[in-house]
Amino acid sequence: MAEAVIQVQNLTKTYGPRVAIDRLNFQAHKGEILGFLGPNGAGKTTTMRILTAYMPPTAGQARIAGFDVVDESLEVRKRVGYLPERVPLYDDLSVLDYLLFMGKLRGVPDVDARAWEVLERVGLAERADSFVASLSKGMRQRLGLAQAILHQPEVLILDEPTIGLDPTQVVEVRDLIREIGSEHTVLLSTHILAEAQQLCDRVLIINQGRIVAEDSPRNLQARLQGGQRIFVAVRGEVGQPLLQKLRSLEGVRLVETPAPDRLEIIAAEGQEVRPQIARTVLESGHDLLEIRLAEMTLEEIFLQLVGDNAPAAKGAAEAPHTEEA
Ligand SMILES: Nc1ncnc2c1ncn2[C@@H]1O[C@H](COP(=O)(O)OP(=O)(O)OP(=O)(O)O)[C@@H](O)[C@H]1O
Ligand SMILES: [Mg+2]
Repeated sequence: MAEAVIQVQNLTKTYGPRVAIDRLNFQAHKGEILGFLGPNGAGKTTTMRILTAYMPPTAGQARIAGFDVVDESLEVRKRVGYLPERVPLYDDLSVLDYLLFMGKLRGVPDVDARAWEVLERVGLAERADSFVASLSKGMRQRLGLAQAILHQPEVLILDEPTIGLDPTQVVEVRDLIREIGSEHTVLLSTHILAEAQQLCDRVLIINQGRIVAEDSPRNLQARLQGGQRIFVAVRGEVGQPLLQKLRSLEGVRLVETPAPDRLEIIAAEGQEVRPQIARTVLESGHDLLEIRLAEMTLEEIFLQLVGDNAPAAKGAAEAPHTEEA
């Protein structure tokens, strides 16, 4: 298998006593669009700033196309296009001059032609002579995207690329990302789950600085829609023997206990497992108070993973980092 274009090992960043990201491990390959999902403060921007060599990690390692983000930051910057959360633009330059300036800074060959090319691609050619200060929010975002792809980077790191765009532009920018992603490597963060589903080959869900799930949207969706999701309430506490019996039932994929007297069961696709579940519960001596089906949305999966009961959230609180002040 080809070497990963983005390689992250035990990547950690602390701000004083606050652990922003905690021993992250992941990779992305050429032609892959990797999504970064997580609630506010999860550590997405922090990770992206480290990968773009804007800021060193506290511990761990990150490599872009084989180059270390700390020791070989110049090589990394050449190969990375970055759309930051807040795009720093020069308000008193024209749109075109801003791109020419950025292009010269990065040694882009044939910079004039290239600047016009990217302006066309992000739909800003008509505003080439406008001052950056006069752009609307969505236009600024598109100009941010234009500068990110200007030097044809191998890796594109996009921090919420469609935020502030109108619906037409959202579609166009997503098409653009898809197109770029087919040849390059894209890491993008988003709060829009449908966007992740549409664009990403793989999704990392991050919560409180830890990766709590990593899967293709297809598999997440399989968890979502593939099999029945069944809620069960029993009288008294569910013990290990019952849990084990339920887990070994044919057609049962996952059994969790959100509360001592509750079960949440996910069945394999196309399987009706409620009769066996009911029988198993009764045979183990519990009263069955409730058994019902529930639809699962991606939002629910997300909330389940990053909610207050998420295992990684507890883990992060229990395992303070050694480097912190
Ligand atoms: N410069 C900083 N100084 C101190 N703490 C910081 C700094 N930047 C980020 N943090 C903290 O690090 C944690 C991760 O923040 P980060 O910006 O990476 O989150 P995020 O996932 O990008 O969130 P959002 O979805 O809101 O953009 C947060 O607790 C944040 O308060
Ligand atoms: Mg952020």
